[in-house]
Amino acid sequence: MEPITAVIVGAGHRAMTYASYAKEHPEALKIVGVADPNPIRRKMVAEKYNLPPENCFSSAEELALRGKIADAVINGTMDKQHVPTSLPLLEAGYHMLLEKPFSTNEEEMWELVRAAKKYNRHVAICHVLRYAPFYAAIRKLVLDGEIGEIVNIQTTEHVSYHHLAVSFVRGKWNNKQACASSMLMAKCCHDLDLIMWMKSGIAPSKVASFGSLSQFKPEKAPQGAGKRCLVDCKVEQECLYSARKHYLDEPDRWGMYVWELLEDIENPTLEDKERSLKTDNPHGRCVYRCDNDVVDRQSVIIEFEDGCTITHNMIGGTARPSRSIHLIGTLGEIQGTLEDSKFVVRKIDPRPGCEYTEEVHDLNVTGDMHGAFGGHGGGDLRLIADFCQFLQGGTPSISSTTINDSIYGHLVGFRAEEARLEGKVLSIPKLESMLGEK
Ligand SMILES: NC(=O)c1ccc[n+]([C@@H]2O[C@H](COP(=O)([O-])OP(=O)(O)OC[C@H]3O[C@@H](n4cnc5c(N)ncnc54)[C@H](O)[C@@H]3O)[C@@H](O)[C@H]2O)c1
Repeated sequence: MEPITAVIVGAGHRAMTYASYAKEHPEALKIVGVADPNPIRRKMVAEKYNLPPENCFSSAEELALRGKIADAVINGTMDKQHVPTSLPLLEAGYHMLLEKPFSTNEEEMWELVRAAKKYNRHVAICHVLRYAPFYAAIRKLVLDGEIGEIVNIQTTEHVSYHHLAVSFVRGKWNNKQACASSMLMAKCCHDLDLIMWMKSGIAPSKVASFGSLSQFKPEKAPQGAGKRCLVDCKVEQECLYSARKHYLDEPDRWGMYVWELLEDIENPTLEDKERSLKTDNPHGRCVYRCDNDVVDRQSVIIEFEDGCTITHNMIGGTARPSRSIHLIGTLGEIQGTLEDSKFVVRKIDPRPGCEYTEEVHDLNVTGDMHGAFGGHGGGDLRLIADFCQFLQGGTPSISSTTINDSIYGHLVGFRAEEARLEGKVLSIPKLESMLGEK
């Protein structure tokens, strides 16, 4: 079988992660081109995948003008570029692996859904957690009816203090206007997608939400705090968010975000990094004095048409990063935490002396959750493997999605944010009627 050929569109951290699959599995995936306005990244990709100059483009739009040079594109541009870059590429004939959130508002979302349908392209959204063995095993048990009809789901996402700081306080998802995504969509569209997946076939009907930016704002700055940790802060040594502690003492953690401005230096030294944090690097700023406006905590409540109730809690600034899920069904429950790589299935057992049975499922995806199949609990590379297999004519896995499978998760996310801002409960229209109208 011939490998799927693909062009990397937006040669950032995400697209390069998926593309790396081609190195290990040349029988499944071959990278044949790149489109990115950043010449350093273009050159890096061209060297890595031995690309001819005529297959290196300065934008998605330029690639689309050339026409179809591969089966698919891996679109890893930033959130607000997803729809504008995808539309011409779908028209030009490409199937697409597209990063989440696939759009930043409802209007754009429908534009892309319509285009995928009109040109009959396979568009898979990078909901990598569906591929993490932890969630795939839970989904299988739900599908097999092990816990009966799901009546309630509780999910949480604890965004650790260092992740929150690097992405949502100092980093590129910190400001709704600049990034165009809310915190909920940028971070928890995975959790919303998992909820929709667990309830597949049953529609969400209502949503409400509370949350705010409460911690990382000027009023909360300790006395003596400056504007830059390494320049004018008198309390840097005691601060839990010191840029020195986060980025110089741990130079590899979040390096792809923190040292982006140093990409033109081949091997930046610690001195280069310190200089950068002292001058123009956004990650050198005091966490209490940034241009962030996205929430640092948010709760979402959803009701489904069958009466099932859901809560999702996102809490930023926690000691340990973690995602947990608790599904309660009419026969029993499933409860676990992704980072523990284990979940428990409990079933009602009314026999004398029993009350319930309990079985622990250990997925054995250990360590830093990156392992042989990439980040997100092993989901990253399983997702690209499944995408290639689907395009090669193989049977899709239970985690496989088309763009239509991602609509409810996005719709609930957009409306939850609107509900939070307006203090309302909003209804979710039925997909069948919307697809008909659109
Ligand atoms: N699936 C996940 O779990 C997950 C995790 C993190 C981030 N993401 C998402 O992945 C996406 C990419 O994040 P990243 O950190 O890799 O981004 P990045 O900023 O590192 O990369 C984006 C690249 O797109 C390029 N670009 C800009 N305009 C372009 C155009 N018109 N045509 C082609 N390329 C263009 C930029 O030059 C840049 O190199 C974001 O939407 C983010 O929300 C997903």
